[in-house]
Amino acid sequence: MDYITLNNGIPCPVVGIGTFMLSPADAESSVREALKMGYSLVDTANAYVNERAVGRGIRESGLLREKVFLSTKLWPSEYENPNAADETLERLGVDYVDLLYIHQPAGNWLAGYRQLEKAYKEGRARAIGISNFEGKYMEEIQTEWEIAPQFIQVEAHPYFTQTELRKTLDQYGIRLMSWYPLGHGDKGLIHEPVFAELGRKYGKTPAQVILRWHTQMGFAVIPGSRNVDHIRDNLDILDFTLTDEDMTQIAKLDKGERYYHRTDEQLAQFALWKPEFSDKAKPHEQYGLVK
Ligand SMILES: NC(=O)c1ccc[n+]([C@@H]2O[C@H](COP(=O)([O-])OP(=O)(O)OC[C@H]3O[C@@H](n4cnc5c(N)ncnc54)[C@H](OP(=O)(O)O)[C@@H]3O)[C@@H](O)[C@H]2O)c1
Repeated sequence: MDYITLNNGIPCPVVGIGTFMLSPADAESSVREALKMGYSLVDTANAYVNERAVGRGIRESGLLREKVFLSTKLWPSEYENPNAADETLERLGVDYVDLLYIHQPAGNWLAGYRQLEKAYKEGRARAIGISNFEGKYMEEIQTEWEIAPQFIQVEAHPYFTQTELRKTLDQYGIRLMSWYPLGHGDKGLIHEPVFAELGRKYGKTPAQVILRWHTQMGFAVIPGSRNVDHIRDNLDILDFTLTDEDMTQIAKLDKGERYYHRTDEQLAQFALWKPEFSDKAKPHEQYGLVK
């Protein structure tokens, strides 16, 4: 595994597994199998309502807790709950997480961020992060934080490379973790001819070329998958290096275009929604209401 060093000196694996929209059963098996294959970074969230299952997957993998870099996110409904971090740890079945985000710039996000800072100081989170804080929200939070975050998690892929945001991140040494790294599985992106061509050159699939591009951009990447073959392929991206010329070819795809367009109305809805934290929850229905 390759690592990036965070602005507080902690190493973080560059590739991990995401669990967005995975049912508890799928999340448990994907996490268990991924960790057995050599993954060590797992990303979940209160809102994915699969944290208990992710915790079970980690334990079933047989890996020692300290061998797993576990990332999760507080949902806005929890920002003013003083026990939010502890309840999150309890669901996961761990004493600490490696990375704790606030998930959305919705509701009382400053209260949420203060909870992250407290958890960080108390050793319940080894690193902290902000998710979906772009534009005006990034400007605002910079004036408020006591501890700068180690990570930001935002949409990023070859069609949308976060050029503007990265200028700010560089000032603070904040690392970017890409969500929708494969365009949420969009065939248009995966089937771009440049990825097939580079795949032939290196003996890799187009998806592997895209994921390698993320890591060479300096991003940590957390592709989601229910397919064991994809999960295996997505880790097998560190034994080749895209040349500067390859990276230039891929850079031509940057259209500055996102897949996901969040509106202010959605942010207001996010603030009102409380996840149902039970294993009976149906993430597709739940998060689907607000996504
Ligand atoms: N902070 C946020 O607001 C936020 C938002 C969205 C996502 N996230 C995080 O980011 C993670 C990744 O996002 P995502 O899962 O939505 O999108 P993604 O990783 O870009 O794409 C997932 C899709 O790609 C397919 N796929 C995965 N590996 C593949 C491969 N090797 N070849 C071909 N297709 C492949 C998957 O299908 P198969 O199941 O068939 O493999 C799935 O349909 C999430 O799981 C979550 O942890 C965070």
